[in-house]
Amino acid sequence: MKRVLTYLAAAGMMIVVAGLMFSCTKEGPQGPPGAAGADGTDGKDANATCTQCHNFSEEIVARIIQYNASGHGTGMTFERNGKTCAPCHTSQGFKEVLASGADTTTASIQNPVGTGCRTCHMIHDTYTSTDWDLRTTAPIKLVINGETVDLGGSSNLCGKCHQSRKPNPYPELGKADVTITSGYWGPHYGSMAPLFASTGAMEIPGTMPYNVTSQHKDIPCFTCHGGQAYGAQAGGHTFYMSYAYHGSDRANTAVCKDCHPDIGSDFDYRGVQSDIKEILTLLEDQLIADSLIDETFHVIPGTYPVETAGIIMNYLLIHYDHSLGIHNSHYTEAVLVNSYEALIAK
Ligand code: HEC
Ligand code: HEC
Ligand code: HEC
Ligand code: HEC
Ligand code: HEC
Ligand code: HEC
Repeated sequence: MKRVLTYLAAAGMMIVVAGLMFSCTKEGPQGPPGAAGADGTDGKDANATCTQCHNFSEEIVARIIQYNASGHGTGMTFERNGKTCAPCHTSQGFKEVLASGADTTTASIQNPVGTGCRTCHMIHDTYTSTDWDLRTTAPIKLVINGETVDLGGSSNLCGKCHQSRKPNPYPELGKADVTITSGYWGPHYGSMAPLFASTGAMEIPGTMPYNVTSQHKDIPCFTCHGGQAYGAQAGGHTFYMSYAYHGSDRANTAVCKDCHPDIGSDFDYRGVQSDIKEILTLLEDQLIADSLIDETFHVIPGTYPVETAGIIMNYLLIHYDHSLGIHNSHYTEAVLVNSYEALIAK
């Protein structure tokens, strides 16, 4: 402000000086008027652009409040700005790989920003209401096995980030032993996209079939995670399914009721989550007993037969899905049961 005032004052002084300099010049008679200039192009109506969104309603404010309470808004992992992490952990990296089609960014991202309005929407690309369009809805080439899957519309947006990474070394059925050198080895933290598409695991033969389809395959992530907002605690742009209230956990089953009117107050519909939890725990306990993972669910480094490494990968895949079968109960069950059978047969 101070600098602006200085400029204004300086400009004023120059006008005064100019006035003084020319005050003694004699003026001649006025010349004939010039021809009329061409019409200028019409200016853009502010209503057609900025105010379509910045319109004093609560529409954006509500989403901002919900977003600010979300995992995207509160999570701090956008510090992971290196070339291999930035595509999913920074807004700039995500946009860069969408444009380039590459798996990594060309350099690490400076001044990184986490997943926000402009990551998912085209905010300020054209400054019109089409900026609400989603940045991508294109099918995804899965990082873990290179398969291209179409989760449908907005689910492809979510799934582009919420998918497994390829463990290094990658265990493939029938191949040689693998040597794991780090406790952080595994398919990374979010396995939703492959699981939705019934793929991504080492498909060790067993009693359960793998060629199954998720009952929720055609339901967008946003339908369940972005349902009617409960304050800024669940639903809407918080994307949370559950929340703590007065010290107890509450599940936002309102989003399930359209299709499952008989659902209770948790997600354990027809006991599916309990069944999955039981077999997941069996597998987990066995992996710990066999000294393959530790109590914090990290791998114990070593050289293992490829199938054993596959079982550990399969366990981590389901562990980090966090939905206990709601994303795809049939595939989840097949992966767990067949992995457990193979482990105890060893
Ligand atoms: C499609 C809806 C939309 C339109 C059209 C739009 N904005 Fe925005 N604007 C937003 C959203 C959403 C944010 C918040 C962005 C964020 O936090 O990532 C924002 C943020 C801003 C900010 C805060 C600074 C920033 O960049 O985050 C300014 C200033 C702004 N807009 C100005 C404008 C102007 C000027 C226009 C018209 C030329 C315009 N906007 C058109 C949706 C829109
Ligand atoms: C650009 C990548 C990206 C996109 C696109 C994306 N996410 Fe995320 N999401 C993340 C990352 C990274 C985190 C973890 C943030 C942190 O902790 O710093 C996260 C966190 C979350 C969480 C909270 C997880 C928890 O354990 O607390 C939910 C729920 C979620 N995302 C759902 C979605 C949904 C639904 C969509 C699509 C509408 C989506 N995400 C799109 C990258 C993305
Ligand atoms: C293919 C997308 C993708 C890539 C690439 C990726 N991440 Fe992530 N990462 C995610 C998502 C999505 C989450 C959040 C999962 C959730 O909360 O369910 C996450 C979570 C994390 C977390 C939080 C774990 C926790 O316990 O909450 C860390 C740390 C992390 N990633 C580190 C990295 C690092 C380091 C790299 C690069 C070497 C990387 N990520 C590359 C998608 C990715
Ligand atoms: C992780 C991705 C993601 C982020 C981050 C995100 N949105 Fe959205 N948003 C969506 C999806 C998905 C929809 C549903 C649109 C659809 O299905 O076509 C949506 C819908 C909306 C709508 C309704 C648009 C319409 O067409 O009616 C508004 C408004 C909106 N978001 C605003 C925001 C604002 C403001 C922010 C930032 C505070 C934001 N969003 C951040 C994914 C996201
Ligand atoms: C049929 C409803 C449904 C659909 C569709 C769905 N989810 Fe979920 N998701 C859940 C439930 C239920 C949980 C467990 C939440 C809990 O217990 O709090 C969950 C958990 C998660 C979590 C762990 C964080 C959290 O909030 O607990 C992430 C991240 C996530 N889902 C992402 C996705 C993505 C990405 C998609 C789309 C590819 C998707 N979900 C589709 C119901 C759904
Ligand atoms: C848009 C409709 C729709 C929504 C929303 C939906 N589901 Fe489903 N769900 C289905 C359909 C269809 C099936 C397969 C038919 C059946 O088993 O009833 C199914 C099956 C299931 C199953 C498997 C049941 C079994 O016996 O194997 C579970 C568990 C389940 N849903 C839980 C949920 C939960 C929890 C939510 C909310 C977070 C939810 N669903 C939201 C449509 C939906």
